Amino acid sequence: MSRHVVTISELGDDDLRAILEAARAPLDDALLAGQGVALVFERPSLRTRAASSTAVQELGGYVTFFSDDEIGLDTRESAEDVGRTIDALYAVCAMRVRHHAVFGRIRSATKDRLSLINLLSDVAHPTQAIADVLTIADHFAGGDASQLAGLRVAYVGDATNVTRSLAVALTRLGAEVVVGAPEGYQLTAGTDEDPLAIDGARLRLTASPTEAVRGADVVYTDAWVSMGFEEETKRRRKDLADFRVDGSLLDGAAPGAVVLHCLPAHRGDEITDDVLDGPASLVWQQVAHRRSAMVGALRWIKDGE
Ligand code: CP
Ligand code: NVA
Repeated sequence: MSRHVVTISELGDDDLRAILEAARAPLDDALLAGQGVALVFERPSLRTRAASSTAVQELGGYVTFFSDDEIGLDTRESAEDVGRTIDALYAVCAMRVRHHAVFGRIRSATKDRLSLINLLSDVAHPTQAIADVLTIADHFAGGDASQLAGLRVAYVGDATNVTRSLAVALTRLGAEVVVGAPEGYQLTAGTDEDPLAIDGARLRLTASPTEAVRGADVVYTDAWVSMGFEEETKRRRKDLADFRVDGSLLDGAAPGAVVLHCLPAHRGDEITDDVLDGPASLVWQQVAHRRSAMVGALRWIKDGE
């Protein structure tokens, strides 16, 4: 059976550790020499596409990019047949999909032979979470992700795919996570990436943004309007207005607190310019780690063969 990075939840503790270590190892191997990685994007992307392409090239492989217009997942042909085709021609398939269930369907259709990487779905964004952990570990633990116990991380705003993968990764590594979101935007149970399902998880939910950030070492936010929710823009702006990460909210965090955002940022909505561009912001370190995270995921997948 091939290895997959579809959710953080599906990875064992050893797998997560191995990916984080592989992400940091010097770039002196060509594990993907002569091998192709299919990059399928049903939704737009800058960072993920760039990080995936550069990571594959650094490991000696090559990528082919497929947009939704070309492939038409479940419109031009079924997701299963897309998967079978990619399985015949590529070593790994990395996908940004509208519907997380596509991963399960392709796994069944290819009898789990084709390694899959989730580059964002409606449920999870695992390679983002790996990059975020690397960024946080650099700042607070000299790069050692096993030393995050007790770190306090506040997520403020709409609890998204990014929130779920981040909360699963961080609570499993011993950090304490508080998610501050208004009613209707909070984490819900029952998805494949479910931080609420982790036994003894150090996870707390609150409807108060100030309560969420109180004493936090890390303050994280994401878009109020994720891809696919554009029609709700007006309502979301109104409902989430009190959850903007601005200077005064950040004042309630711990001294020396840092700010993370997966980007793209909607300046003036979920985060203000002064915070995003200010001294606490680690967003460009996160972007750089998107490539390390992909290197880690790809190496871990190839190591399992
Ligand atoms: N953070 C992130 O996934 O960015 P892109 O949507 O630009 O890839
Ligand atoms: N939650 C956002 C993340 C973008 C990287 C979205 O799904 O659009």
